[in-house]
Amino acid sequence: MTDLLTIADLGPEGVAEILALSERADLGRPLAGKGVALVFEKPSARTRNSTEMAVVQLGGHPVYIQKDEVGIDTRETAEDVARTLACYHKVIAARVREHQHLVRMADSVSTPILNLLSDKDHPLQGLADILTIKQLTGHLEGVRVAYVGDADNNVARSLAQACVAVGAELSLASPQGYHLSDAPDGVRQVADPAEAVAGADIVYTDVWVSMGQDDETGKRLKAFAAYQVNEALMAKSNDAHFLHCLPARRGEEVTHGVMESAKSAVWKQAENRMHTARGALAWLTGVR
Ligand code: CP
Ligand code: NVA
Repeated sequence: MTDLLTIADLGPEGVAEILALSERADLGRPLAGKGVALVFEKPSARTRNSTEMAVVQLGGHPVYIQKDEVGIDTRETAEDVARTLACYHKVIAARVREHQHLVRMADSVSTPILNLLSDKDHPLQGLADILTIKQLTGHLEGVRVAYVGDADNNVARSLAQACVAVGAELSLASPQGYHLSDAPDGVRQVADPAEAVAGADIVYTDVWVSMGQDDETGKRLKAFAAYQVNEALMAKSNDAHFLHCLPARRGEEVTHGVMESAKSAVWKQAENRMHTARGALAWLTGVR
């Protein structure tokens, strides 16, 4: 069985297959009578609700599990959690503190493991981002995407892998110390936000302080102060659409005005989380 831990694992073919499934209305009920475990070690609005509804739309039964109920590596090992959940579920989906927990779970069971966000990657977000860009611009090959802010985080990493998979051109703008550490070939990394957004069709940002980084808040707010996506920065783009994975910290990485502007597509992007979750779950259960 296949897992979905990163977009890089999927490759261009897997990404294309999931995007095609995400846009199909006739997937049927491949999860009829089956459970999907949704384990959350961190909070979530979009990922929990979009994956729960995607499971329902595929005819399955989602079981939401909070972190203390299973206690990965606290109540029992990641391996034993996976083996237990595999007794009942067709897919095990998890949002984890440490990406390695997903790797260990995937190594323990043949049941597909689906990454709902780790410290490293957010593949379902990357898939929704790409679907949204396709809907906004009508194509993916050669679309110019600029990401401004914390480039060494889960969202930026999955976006980078997704852009490479579909032939979109990505420029990441981040301060020293926050460049994407393992950027795929073809991704441009710069320090100047204006340089990244010049000519961009899409401008994207994420929070400066991710979940679990609260003790670095002071340092990060200072490091990213010149990286806010505001009206002046958007004006330097090619009349770009604005994207944000959400939740947003208005007044930090993005202004209220940009979030509410006519070019903001953040709600279309949020809705697409459900469509791509449905596509990814169908793909993991063998639908093509
Ligand atoms: N974008 C995203 O994953 O949102 P949640 O953290 O609310 O799931
Ligand atoms: N980078 C953010 C994404 C939230 C969806 C975080 O990890 O908190």
